[in-house]
Amino acid sequence: MSNTNNLTSPFAFILFGGTGDLTQRKLIPSLFDLFKKGVLPEQFYVVGYSRRPYSSQDYKDFLQNAVIKYSHTSFDAGKWEEFSGKIYYQIGELDNEAGYRKLIDLLSQFDKRVNACVPRFFYLATPPDLYSPILTNLYETKLSEGCGQGSDKWTKVMIEKPFGRNLEDAKNLDARLARIFKEEQIYRIDHYLGKETVQNIIAFRYGNALFEPIWNRQYIDHVQMTVAETVGVETRGNFYEGVGALRDMTQSHLLELLAAVAMEEPRTFDAEGIRDARATLIKNLNFINPKDTAKYTVRGQYATGKQLINNEEVVVKGYREEDNVNNGSNTETFVALQTTVNTKRWQGVPFYLRTGKRLMRKVTEISVVFKEPLIKIFTGYKAATPTITNVLTFKIAPQEGIELVLNAKRPGLDTVLEQRNMNFMYKQEDVQADPYERLLLDAMRGDQRLFTRTDEVVASWEFVSQIAQGWWNQGTPGFPNYAAGSWGPQAADELIARDGRAWLTR
Ligand code: BG6
Repeated sequence: MSNTNNLTSPFAFILFGGTGDLTQRKLIPSLFDLFKKGVLPEQFYVVGYSRRPYSSQDYKDFLQNAVIKYSHTSFDAGKWEEFSGKIYYQIGELDNEAGYRKLIDLLSQFDKRVNACVPRFFYLATPPDLYSPILTNLYETKLSEGCGQGSDKWTKVMIEKPFGRNLEDAKNLDARLARIFKEEQIYRIDHYLGKETVQNIIAFRYGNALFEPIWNRQYIDHVQMTVAETVGVETRGNFYEGVGALRDMTQSHLLELLAAVAMEEPRTFDAEGIRDARATLIKNLNFINPKDTAKYTVRGQYATGKQLINNEEVVVKGYREEDNVNNGSNTETFVALQTTVNTKRWQGVPFYLRTGKRLMRKVTEISVVFKEPLIKIFTGYKAATPTITNVLTFKIAPQEGIELVLNAKRPGLDTVLEQRNMNFMYKQEDVQADPYERLLLDAMRGDQRLFTRTDEVVASWEFVSQIAQGWWNQGTPGFPNYAAGSWGPQAADELIARDGRAWLTR
């Protein structure tokens, strides 16, 4: 969305959680890929901050292993040599000022080297309960002010989801951030916004004259989204317990996808315009009243089951048997829900959303299902005509692309309608960039379009809090209720079937 101007000004990228999972899997591989693409400036510094007793060289080796293990591009030893010359390590506790003081000394050396204030990016890549001590120490040591001391243009803070654990938490975190940074300095990450096809939804809607006129209740029957994963909680049982699919996936990724599909035309194509449009949409969702959760939502938890992994059927554990999970846990690993959007454009159009772990296959798709044609001249050919009309599908994973299902005459002497697909799938090499590459680059460019704003986050927490409250009122859910390797609880199929519709993603 922004231009691809390379960065020219130096920067320092400081990673709190410098030895953590996110740093290894995403942040360093993405930064290194940006470096290989030649978009980073000549002078930049990457500083890992953590309590492990590493030397600078140990840290470089540690990150090299991570890049070899997790990067989706082949390892380039020569480039790594160059890149690793920019890596530094600072030992320190997150809740103790002493380490931050040493960090000031290190960062000041960079300023001296270029004889100017080097802008600082503080990335909070830690579990959310550590955000608070980090922010306190950034503030108390004045690191948050950068070398300009009092000039906020020298620092930015990047903060990972989950943004809080509930509505109150999110509001507190925001209040805390706002005391230290201005909104222009805060970059809240939802990596789904960095995905190619998610950005393409907006390009597709507003870059073509074809779709916008019919993007409304008059032509659209319903919208459905599936974000299905085959993985379970892996090593994240500690984090996931008590969080669940509602807070982990729905509050952030699903609602952001919904906003991209359903938002009104942004007034302007800048951060405020786009974020106003997304936030307005989320605020306009019909929040599901706690007393209606039994009707409009389904929650599930996986039991042991057979799953196809690398084309082999494997028996996998149920959620309650996973490491660091309570054996009587009532944390949900699946959510399906139905909502509507309270705007003129969408009045009465249902939006069906579902997400879950240990489902049949890894797939993320949004299907916009259009109504049947008003004039049905083909009624006489009904037996042969397809039951569903046009469907536009944004395919986000595993392959990225857009597909439109159309009805056309089957070639031959009889008049029979059949369904045909028009699609374009991006070749794997076209979408090589990890969403984090785009997000890191945008943050450095100062482009906040793909980062969530405080009102967006609060509205989405308000939406999911009502559901959480309803579930709480309902009491114990009777988990586990779906087998690993299935499409989730039967109730999720019933949720959409009672309206005479079905999940199209299978
Ligand atoms: C993360 C969630 O935000 O997104 C994980 O915390 C989930 O639980 C992941 O597995 C899915 O991301 P993607 O890009 O693989 O769809």
